[in-house]
Amino acid sequence: MTRVLAGGSFRVSGLGAALPGDLVTNADLAAHLDTSDAWIRSRTGIHARHRAGPHDTTTALAVTAASAALRDADLGAADVNLVVVATATPDTACPATASRVARDLGTTGASFDLNGACCGFVHALLVAASLIGATTVDTVLVVGADRFSSLVDPADRSTAVLFGDGAAAVVLRRGEPGDDFGLLGSDLGGEPAALGVLEVPPTARHLRMDGPELFRRATRALVASSAAALTRAGVEADEVDLFVPHQANARIIAAAADRLGIGSDRTMLDVAERANTSAASVPLALHAAQRDGRLDDGDLVLLSAVGAGLGWASAVVRWGR
Ligand code: UT7
Repeated sequence: MTRVLAGGSFRVSGLGAALPGDLVTNADLAAHLDTSDAWIRSRTGIHARHRAGPHDTTTALAVTAASAALRDADLGAADVNLVVVATATPDTACPATASRVARDLGTTGASFDLNGACCGFVHALLVAASLIGATTVDTVLVVGADRFSSLVDPADRSTAVLFGDGAAAVVLRRGEPGDDFGLLGSDLGGEPAALGVLEVPPTARHLRMDGPELFRRATRALVASSAAALTRAGVEADEVDLFVPHQANARIIAAAADRLGIGSDRTMLDVAERANTSAASVPLALHAAQRDGRLDDGDLVLLSAVGAGLGWASAVVRWGR
């Protein structure tokens, strides 16, 4: 069937990633928490996670990832007219982390943050694609950057083992006339009444989570949202070349892929050495996919994420560099 782009065409011209140097293994955590490497691996698929040091600010991680994405795209700061940073862990409340990133990179255009927690990168991609389709903006740095180590209680085994820190970025460029690369379909949704399953309560410092309840809801939401985006795109699950879901738990990813009918050979699993990096998780997985030669021009790529809020977002993209 003929597939129509859902907005203006765009290419994903470059990708970049940044991970702090400090790698914390399950054994490191088990040395001071009532947990074990075997439990964490079997329940989550996680072996290790990167942890930010004092100099690994959200801005610093985002700048490193964005610089790498610009190099990969063979573009300079002067080519960029919008920087969007998806983050739930900005260094300061004001100004936006994106503005600090834009200053450090030397871009001169607009910059703003967007907090969609673990869905933030997919939200930001949809916003950037819409702006490319509807305005004169033509080159957007879309960054996902989070330091959940700053939100997690290191003494709470139910959350301390699950999260890691990092950033990743993509450069979106308006497509050439006649291009059919870009967004084919999307889905956005949420159930704010259920936000208590994962939140930093207003009077608390740390994240609180009902893990098993979130596990059930996350699996259901990934499946339903992915299916809705595929339907809107006119794409069948067996046509998807690569499924890139939010990387929270290998069991959630396996269950969602199985219910969608997408085999493990077409599903990105990147959680083992990263854990859940929130807004950075989907672009880090995309970066790993490109590195591993799993992304080609013309591929149908399904992105899907679920996270605090409770929210979900999915996008079907015809990939083109
Ligand atoms: O970005 C948002 C997307 N989604 C998520 O982040 C998903 C979060 N949820 C999960 O990943 C999973 O729910 C967990 C990995 C947290 C737990 O797995 P589960 O299969 O849902 O739970 P379970 O039934 O296997 O285990 C629950 C038990 C509890 O003990 P009781 O109450 O049954 O005695 C927990 O206290 O596991 C206990 N537990 C742990 N035990 C050892 C929780 N964390 C740990 C731990 N080590 N680190």
